[in-house]
Amino acid sequence: MIHYNGDKAVFHLQGPTYSCLLGVRDGVLMQWYWGGKLPDDAVEGLLECPGEGASFDSAFSRQPLAVPTQEKGYMGQRAISVRNAAGDDVLSLRYQGHRIFPGKKPLQGLPSSYVEQEGEADTLEIDLKDALTGVAVTLRYTVYADYDVLARSMTVTNEGSEPFELTDAQSAMRLPAGRYELLHLKGAWARERQARRVPMGEGSFAVKSRRGASGHENSPFLAVLAPHTTENQGEVYAMTHVYSGSFSAGVDVGIDGAPVMMIGLCGDVFSWRMAPGETFQCPEALFVYAPDGLNGLSHRMHPFVRQRICRGQWRDQPRPILINNWEATYFDFSFDKLLAIAKRGAEIGCELFVLDDGWFGKRDIDNCSLGDWVVNEKKIGGSLRHLAESIQELGMRFGLWFEPEMVSPDSDLYRAHPDWCLHVNGRERTEARHQLILDMGRREVQDYVLESVSAVLRSAPISYVKWDMNRNMMEGFSAALPPERRMESQHRYMLGLYRVLEEITSAFPEVLFESCSGGGGRFDCGMLCYMPQTWTSDDTDACERTRIQYGTSLIYPCSTMGAHVSAVPNHQTGRITPFHTRCNVAMGGNFGFELDLSRLSDEDLAEAKNAVAMVKALRATMQQGEYTRLLNPFESDGRAAWQFTDESRAVVCMYAPQQQPNPQPHRVRLAGLDAAATYADAAHGITASGAALMNLGLIFPEGRGDHDSWVYVLEKVSKS
Ligand code: DGJ
Repeated sequence: MIHYNGDKAVFHLQGPTYSCLLGVRDGVLMQWYWGGKLPDDAVEGLLECPGEGASFDSAFSRQPLAVPTQEKGYMGQRAISVRNAAGDDVLSLRYQGHRIFPGKKPLQGLPSSYVEQEGEADTLEIDLKDALTGVAVTLRYTVYADYDVLARSMTVTNEGSEPFELTDAQSAMRLPAGRYELLHLKGAWARERQARRVPMGEGSFAVKSRRGASGHENSPFLAVLAPHTTENQGEVYAMTHVYSGSFSAGVDVGIDGAPVMMIGLCGDVFSWRMAPGETFQCPEALFVYAPDGLNGLSHRMHPFVRQRICRGQWRDQPRPILINNWEATYFDFSFDKLLAIAKRGAEIGCELFVLDDGWFGKRDIDNCSLGDWVVNEKKIGGSLRHLAESIQELGMRFGLWFEPEMVSPDSDLYRAHPDWCLHVNGRERTEARHQLILDMGRREVQDYVLESVSAVLRSAPISYVKWDMNRNMMEGFSAALPPERRMESQHRYMLGLYRVLEEITSAFPEVLFESCSGGGGRFDCGMLCYMPQTWTSDDTDACERTRIQYGTSLIYPCSTMGAHVSAVPNHQTGRITPFHTRCNVAMGGNFGFELDLSRLSDEDLAEAKNAVAMVKALRATMQQGEYTRLLNPFESDGRAAWQFTDESRAVVCMYAPQQQPNPQPHRVRLAGLDAAATYADAAHGITASGAALMNLGLIFPEGRGDHDSWVYVLEKVSKS
């Protein structure tokens, strides 16, 4: 996986289908190559640095620097910036040594990808150091034998005698010079991860979050694509971050025309003072090269996220079909109302009932009680144990909503500890949804959150937790830090949050945790390390969901996406979609309901029951199989189609937003089937070879009205 050629000072990082070449030239670490797999190290004569020529710029600035910094005339985007004791930011990092070892070590205080066996990956650590200031950097590259993802992180250590301030830290990867397009995921609340493709210019492009969360607005993801890349063709270079806080993800085209992709902490809201001897761990970045289009990217990311980011008992378990009361009742519920919904849920086969916001303090509206995690027994008709056991008697598990990182100004917690929230003395504490954010960087706050949530979890049989976070940081500073360390507040918050998540998920390993942030405002690999699923969006409209789930699926597997059937007119859009379409679209993720089942018509209830039975029969394929996008709703008049495939079957879903008069015949060509095998869908009268399904394709049926959808279950009836 990692070979070092000492004669040539070249490191060859070789994954299943990619290679990356690094090397040392005059003490400087170069990244010579990243792209399709090279079978060996035979690259004699190919690793030359461009000369100075007639250039106005220094020769140095034209070299393929692996860790570009401010030195010797390099003018581009820097991977590391440091303000040193002398007040300048020049940094000449030079090679000191390296180590290659099997396996992968966890990162100190931060979530990261992992190995189960040492032999499944190799890690290369390269030490670099600036002689004048003592800034020392260890770069870490992990190559997996069976996963096409390169994991990269770095630590910065002060080996000098003066303090310095780390002001930026990015993981960088260079691409071959060329013309490209960019793909990023733009969004907002209820409109998360909308796929956007733009031509790549010759300057810089970056998406950022300064929100203290990865956020709804931009995802910690960027892909550089060869022109005209489709779902199945074209080269894709992509990156994402194993981190849930503010970030920057950008691409910078140097004077040699080679784009450098960088992802890391957001320098606008981050700096870190480092005393002599101190070490700082930067978050991990994941890089993927795919020669075979956007599905190629997802087919590499999905198994990796499922098996080397997600952890714990629930990682490989079938995810329970849930019924959540939020859109059914909002804050207006009682024991009887909850039980009526739960009863119907049990009748149609649901496996988990989730009690959402409003069960604690005096919270009948969103302006109070966050922080006071005391059960409102009057409202829920007795103890939490009584409610949970009543649900269990119906044959379902019980789950509970929390928003532990927050505090309402109208709460006992805030009255007791007004300084425990992020704020700036002398300035207004800007509220959002009538709430403030606890300063998770403070140990006493972490301990309070740990103890108050744990006490509730210990008090009743709770099998599932929805961990919500409903606002982003404004005046996001810790009053507990001295002025020269205030810019550390956001990252210290993340470290504190990760400590709490590590401890609580270890203390309650049997609990299934689902993360949430006003829907999908913190959908990232950092949270997925602790919670194997995330509520994808507060927008439950089936039509909108085809786009949100499309964008999300570029990186994240369906087993990480919560997707629920809700009422019509939809609460976010007012749109009316047929019940079967709401079910079919929700089958694109972890299936559940979020409506008052006790008020469904008999006809809809029967459809709900069928959908539950179908999910149970097919969820192994849908949660663990390969997911392939067949039609992109951003491009195909809103039509969408996707396919789940495993050894035994393919499940295909198609959706059309509008009925067309005299429609053009459409066909959807399937992918990834066994060409010589026969597949059959008895319900639709189809028996065809894999080759026919992949080449001729399924006919996109004519709709029975707007927002129609179809599911095909093609069982593999004969093997090739
Ligand atoms: C935002 C979440 O996304 C919703 O599902 C719901 O849990 C509310 N918060 C509750 O306040």
